[in-house]
Amino acid sequence: MKDIDWSKLGFHYTETDYIVRCECHDGVWGKPYVTNDKYVSLHLSATCLQYGQEAFEGLKAFRGADGKVRVFRMEENARRMARSAEALCMSPVPEDLFCEAIILALDKNMDFLPPYETGATLYFRPLLIGTTPRLGVGPGRDFLFVVIPSPIGPYFPVGFHGTPFIVNRHVDRAAPFGTGQYKVGGNYAASFRATEAAHRQGLSCLFLDSVERKYIDECGAANFFGIKDGVYVTPQSTSILPSITNNSLMQLARDKGIQVEQRRVLLEELSDMTECGACGTAAVISPISRVIDPDNARIYEFGDEPGEVSKMLYYALKDIQYGRTEDKHGWCYVK
Ligand code: PLP
Ligand code: COI
Repeated sequence: MKDIDWSKLGFHYTETDYIVRCECHDGVWGKPYVTNDKYVSLHLSATCLQYGQEAFEGLKAFRGADGKVRVFRMEENARRMARSAEALCMSPVPEDLFCEAIILALDKNMDFLPPYETGATLYFRPLLIGTTPRLGVGPGRDFLFVVIPSPIGPYFPVGFHGTPFIVNRHVDRAAPFGTGQYKVGGNYAASFRATEAAHRQGLSCLFLDSVERKYIDECGAANFFGIKDGVYVTPQSTSILPSITNNSLMQLARDKGIQVEQRRVLLEELSDMTECGACGTAAVISPISRVIDPDNARIYEFGDEPGEVSKMLYYALKDIQYGRTEDKHGWCYVK
């Protein structure tokens, strides 16, 4: 195992020994291969650079209490990446190839898999880029798929404690029938203006729907959920990413007898919520301590500590990921 101070890791890139690559030409995928070369020689007219033909994913491997290694729901990431690829007219990475590449990246980088209970995990960043040189506006026919591993710590530096958010009505992250439901780099570039403005105030950004700016969309790079009258409420929107973590939390909530509502959620409903949070692979569950709505001079307060439902769901999810409880839904690839 590498000599890394695992518990000090944040959500930053740490180089590992190997990455995995695979190429596609005219719809035909090659075999994934391992390399230690983290650089790519790319034509400057490649469609990923010129026209943003790029999609990515994010998933984690955990070293469990029983010494086994678990990768969480990688088939779901594979399916989502295929949907993102189709949305940008790219050749989708076949599901079995995607999973083979993740397992290869895991096998080759076991020294970078953080020990149990350090709070760190091995994160995989699958990336698909268009490499055909093109000046005419249109999709290319050549693609490079890579899996970049990195050990990481918590996404929000405070860990499982409240993070403050601010609403931004002046920058839209995604349009209702645009690319918001796909994991493509352009969505993130489009959000930087809002997220950087929030960060300068020590806050994270809560995005509203881009039509009426009344409904909650999502929390930067995570979905939103709140608990209202004991019900798990989470936005239904065509401009947000269908989070695999949120999907898992909804299932866990139902398993615990908690009602789940996936529907449009008015920002004002925050005043009736007892707790709320941001959820995602990187964020896990990050409780929201307060939401500032500067345009209406309103602050919704939730406190710095996670609420009871958030705590229960957080540990239910982690127990599965770390092999401390039965994986009833068969979510983990176990090695
Ligand atoms: N929303 C956005 C915009 C994201 O980037 C992510 C991260 O992947 C999520 C939500 C959470 O999705 P998941 O739980 O699948 O990681
Ligand atoms: C994730 O949660 O895996 C993400 O990709 C979100 C963000 C860090 C881009």
